[in-house]
Amino acid sequence: MTTSSPETPDSPDYLRGFGNHHVTEAIPGALPQGRNSPQRPPLGLYAEQLSATAFTQPRAANRRTWAYRIRPSAAHPAFIRIPNGRLRTGPFNEIEPDPNRIRWDAMPPATPGTDFVAGLFTVGGHGSPLTGMGMAIHTYAADTSMTDVFVNADGELLIVPEQGRLRVLTELGRLDVPPGQICLIPRGLRFRVEHDEAVRGYVCENYGAALALPERGPIGANGLAAERDFRVPVAWFEDREEPVRVVQKFGGNLWAADYDHSPLDVVAWHGNHAPYVYDLADFQVLGSISFDHPDPSLFTVLTSQTPVPGLANVDFVVFAPRWLVGEDTFRPPWFHRNVMAEYMGLIRGVYDAKAEGFVPGGASLHNTWASHGPDAATHRGASAAELVPQKLDDTLAFMFETNLPITLTAQAWTADHRQPDYDAVWSGLGREFRA
Ligand SMILES: [Fe+2]
Repeated sequence: MTTSSPETPDSPDYLRGFGNHHVTEAIPGALPQGRNSPQRPPLGLYAEQLSATAFTQPRAANRRTWAYRIRPSAAHPAFIRIPNGRLRTGPFNEIEPDPNRIRWDAMPPATPGTDFVAGLFTVGGHGSPLTGMGMAIHTYAADTSMTDVFVNADGELLIVPEQGRLRVLTELGRLDVPPGQICLIPRGLRFRVEHDEAVRGYVCENYGAALALPERGPIGANGLAAERDFRVPVAWFEDREEPVRVVQKFGGNLWAADYDHSPLDVVAWHGNHAPYVYDLADFQVLGSISFDHPDPSLFTVLTSQTPVPGLANVDFVVFAPRWLVGEDTFRPPWFHRNVMAEYMGLIRGVYDAKAEGFVPGGASLHNTWASHGPDAATHRGASAAELVPQKLDDTLAFMFETNLPITLTAQAWTADHRQPDYDAVWSGLGREFRA
C-alpha cells in the first residue's frame, strides 16, 4: 500500500488543484477586492503582475499572477555578470552529440559551503531558452542553505529530490519537498532553497511550454496524476530590510543585483502562475491486466507539449511501486530503440530493468535511437520467472524524456562519477536461437 509522505508539524499550508486560479492572502484584507490595481492597494502594498504567457494567448493556456508586495520588484540596481559555476545552458555545443549509452554513479557529496544553486551540475540538454524550445538536465548536491534569492528567466524548474528535504521559499509561498515528492518552480519566480541536511537530486529545466497534465484519452476521467493532489502554497512573506543578493539566470548566464530588502515580500496574490508540489505516491499507476505491458507513456505525470500533437518537448515519467500480473509476458521493459531521448534517475530502491549498477542518485542516458533494455541478468531472470502476481515495491525511478538528442556538457562526459563500462551490462546476452 502506498501512502502520502508524512508532513512535518510546521509544514506550510497549501491550496489544492492543478492550474487553478488561486486567491490567497497572508494578512486578512491585503488582497484588493473587485479590481487588480486600485488607486491605493490595501496596507500600502504595491501591485505587480507576473505574465507568463502573452496577454492574448487563449484562456486555457494563459498564465498570470497578480502580486501585492511590500516593495515593487523593480526597485533594484543593475544586474552584474557573475560566474556560471557548473550551470550550462543550450545551445549545447561543448562536445559532439554522442550516440553511446551512458551511466553515472551518484553525484559526489557537495564541497562544504555549497548551496542549491552552486550545487547545480548541468548534465546536458538540447534547444535553447533563446528560441523557447528544448530542455536541460541538471543534478544538484548541496549542504548549505541559500542566502541569495534565485530566479530563472530561461525556463521552469522541475526539482526531484533524492536525498534530503528541501524547504523552497518563493515569492508566492513556501513548499516543503522531501524525497518522493517533486516541486515545480515556474519561470521567472524568485525563490530560495533551505535545508537542514545535505541534499541531492535532479532538476529538469524546461525551456518550452509549461508542464501540464497529459490527456487521458480512453483512460477516462480519472487515473494517473489527479488534479486535486497538486498543492500550491498559500501567501507567505518575509519583511527584511537588509541586503539580499538576487541571482538571475538569463540567456544562459548568471547575473546578480543587490537589493536592499528581501524580494520574497508578497503579502497576497491571485492567479495561476504559481509553484506547486506533488507527492509521487499519489500517482495512480495503470497497467496491463492481461498480457504485455503498455508503453511507458502511461506513466507520464507531466508533459510539456510541442506544437506537434502528442509530441513532447519534455515528459516527466515515474516508475512507481506497482503490481505485475501479465500472463505469457516478459515483464521488465522490453528491448527497444526510440526516437525520443531518455534520461533516467532513481529516487529509491531498484529499477526492474537493471539488476545492478543503476543506483539512487545515479542516472542513465539512452539517447535517441540507442539500443537498450534489460541487462543480461535481468533478461535471464525474467525469462525464467514463474509468472505469479508480483509486487514491485522498493522502487521509485523516473525519466525525463525529450524529443531531440541530448548533447552532454564536457563536465558530464569527463565526470569521475561517469561509469566507464556501461555497455558491459548487455555483453552477456548470448545467442539462444534454435532453428
Ligand atoms: Fe528506454
